Amino acid sequence: MPTDFWPDRVKVLTKRLGIDCPIIQAPMAGGPSTPELVAAVSNSGALGSLGVGYLPPEQIESEIHKVKELTNKPFSINLFVPDRDVASQPSDKVLNRLREFSEELGIDAPRIPGPSKYNFEDQLAVILENNVPIFSFTFGIPDKVLIKDLFERGVLVIGTATCVEEGVLLEQAGCSAIIAQGSEAGGHRGTFGSTEGTPMIGGLALVPQLADKVKIPVIASGGIMDGRGIAASIALGASAVQMGTAFLSCEEAGVPRPWLDRLLSSKDVSTVLTKAFSGKYARGIKNRFIDGMLSFEEGVASYPIQNSLTRLIRNTAKEKENSDFMSLWAGQGSAMSRKYKARELINLLVSETYDVLKSMTSNL
Ligand SMILES: Cc1cc2nc3c(=O)[nH]c(=O)nc-3n(C[C@H](O)[C@H](O)[C@H](O)COP(=O)(O)O)c2cc1C
Repeated sequence: MPTDFWPDRVKVLTKRLGIDCPIIQAPMAGGPSTPELVAAVSNSGALGSLGVGYLPPEQIESEIHKVKELTNKPFSINLFVPDRDVASQPSDKVLNRLREFSEELGIDAPRIPGPSKYNFEDQLAVILENNVPIFSFTFGIPDKVLIKDLFERGVLVIGTATCVEEGVLLEQAGCSAIIAQGSEAGGHRGTFGSTEGTPMIGGLALVPQLADKVKIPVIASGGIMDGRGIAASIALGASAVQMGTAFLSCEEAGVPRPWLDRLLSSKDVSTVLTKAFSGKYARGIKNRFIDGMLSFEEGVASYPIQNSLTRLIRNTAKEKENSDFMSLWAGQGSAMSRKYKARELINLLVSETYDVLKSMTSNL
């Protein structure tokens, strides 16, 4: 298999990112994207991403150091841009429901959290101080001044869009590339700027529409699990793919056993979108918590209040290995999950993509 088979549009972006193949392991805050996973991915010629949205500045710094001890290849760091909207509090019905779940788990009732001790700017400062080559973000757009600062220091900045309107805003803000997050995607929706409610556009429709509208590279994301998904994304106009769920079952990922078991036994219909865990729509494998909150979704608090309210429930469930109350984030392609080391998965993805592209053009 030749190593140089990628189309020119793809090669332009991989060259800028300093990687060999157009595969980005998605940042997965909350445990899955361990420094070991990020480094193994980057050492294999793809781009590893560390999701540090939930971490305080000191911990972000130590995670960056761990990655740097394990690789000298480029990697990216990912943060959550805070909402500027006024926060909404949970309804009494939601609080009662959470109390019932807490009682069942034998823990204290959830309390409305106080203000955080650090903010987005504190987190970003660590990234700037530690010479991280690539910065990606979701849930919004940082101030133009911050993006300019990153750009001037040679950092590549990548934003997340869930519709064309958001993609255009990201391009105008000075981003170097855009992740087009289709509604198949596992984890949180990156939605921030749509004037049309909560966009739920599948990747097959979103990627070409965004690629037609912006001049900067588009990175397809959502439901991509193998070489067929990568080849299809390139055909749609993407310059790379960002894959999360496919990496959850890698040996180096930080995924607790009950989550992994549910992932590996999932079906095409196993995932749903829910606001119940965090206050923002996110896709995960259906469980008792999601089902039990279904009729209360309208009353959940906004992010990050709802996320704090459910934290003890989620953490206790993790300790007790109880998948009924854990957030089992995964995308619609979860049933195609495969257990490999990161290096093996990346080599397989590249050779599968080559085979698909070749088979599609052999009779031309
Ligand atoms: C467990 C999990 C955690 C995630 N955490 C983040 C995150 O911290 N930051 C981010 O930008 N995207 C996050 N995402 C979304 C991914 O960037 C990406 O859009 C998604 O994984 C693509 O869909 P797929 O899972 O079907 O590949 C997460 C996804 C998963 C599955």
